Amino acid sequence: MIKLAIVGTGGMAKQHAESYAKIPDCQVVAVCDVDYAKAQAFAKNHAIAKAYGDLAEMLADCQFDGISNVTPDRFHKPVTLQAIAAGKHVLCEKPLAVNAADAYEMATAASAAGLINMVNLSYRDAPAIQHAKTLIQAGDIGAIKHIEASYLQSWLVSNQWGDWKSEDMWLWRLSSEHGSKGVLGDVGIHILDFACFPVGEASEVYCQLACFDKAPDNKIGNYTLDANDSALIQVKYANGAMGSIHTTRWASGQINSLRLRIYGDKGGLEVDLDKSLNSLQICRGDNVHNAVWETIECPATPNNYLRFVNSIKTGINDQPDFNHGAKMQTMIDGCFESDRLKATIKL
Ligand SMILES: NC(=O)c1ccc[n+]([C@@H]2O[C@H](COP(=O)([O-])OP(=O)(O)OC[C@H]3O[C@@H](n4cnc5c(N)ncnc54)[C@H](O)[C@@H]3O)[C@@H](O)[C@H]2O)c1
Repeated sequence: MIKLAIVGTGGMAKQHAESYAKIPDCQVVAVCDVDYAKAQAFAKNHAIAKAYGDLAEMLADCQFDGISNVTPDRFHKPVTLQAIAAGKHVLCEKPLAVNAADAYEMATAASAAGLINMVNLSYRDAPAIQHAKTLIQAGDIGAIKHIEASYLQSWLVSNQWGDWKSEDMWLWRLSSEHGSKGVLGDVGIHILDFACFPVGEASEVYCQLACFDKAPDNKIGNYTLDANDSALIQVKYANGAMGSIHTTRWASGQINSLRLRIYGDKGGLEVDLDKSLNSLQICRGDNVHNAVWETIECPATPNNYLRFVNSIKTGINDQPDFNHGAKMQTMIDGCFESDRLKATIKL
């Protein structure tokens, strides 16, 4: 039995608890949140034995193998390093840290301690993206030339996920002082990973960021609303391909839309998670002449929670690991630098 604890019991923690509950030989035995009442309510809802309001106390008091770190971004590093120092494996939420230097420090600490480390780039759980990579590696669409990718949300306009003007879980995402890297760090990291995972590493980025006015003086309570909420990124890949990637929280009419189109010299491929997690569209062979697209059903793939538990069992660290999380963070840092200097940044 692999025993786990969840640190941070806000919005995303539910997905961690529900996902682990589906895995045989795995049990979440404790949760911890700086808001102890929240931890207690979460433990009760998910039938988890113990709740704590302090991480050091949980680490000293309770036996378990690893943690899910589901705290806000700026706490990823301190919580992860504390867990590693106590000998715990870590699945950390994305973005791994608030900059590449911190992310590499986390990767080094985990590997020096010989502990399993993974970052929850959760959209890799979609069979469609895994199969896209398999097809590209098999040469189905030839040498890759051009990529278009977008991650579009509208929670600054829509009330579907609640009221961003009054709820902490949205306000911290709009404030640099609260550790947010804006839409780029929050969900841009997913689409950058999505656009690189099947194609290969990026070698250069050019990025423009925007933060639109949202409130009087762009302040609500103690939150200064200064983090970017739209990002346009041009990417050059190590294999010579070119990509255009964008993300925003202002895409009225799109709740949570990820789309990736990849074009090679023998065909094209589209993953659109609004349409399906389990199938993709492809145009290949003679179909390129008339632009005829076929739908391919994709084989099931383990999610990151199962990969984490299996990695603990086998001692073989699956992907995406901290080192990959740190590489993605280098891309995010490059985007900020590019926006600041109005220049292309080599990675
Ligand atoms: N992989 C995904 O698809 C995905 C989706 C949503 C959120 N996330 C990530 O999950 C993380 C949490 O997001 P959320 O939406 O659940 O945020 P949230 O604000 O709803 O919840 C965070 C919780 O962590 C607690 N907390 C803060 N500091 C803590 C600490 N030092 N120790 C213990 N608990 C602490 C807070 O009290 C809060 O209950 C973020 O990093 C976010 O980027 C990932």
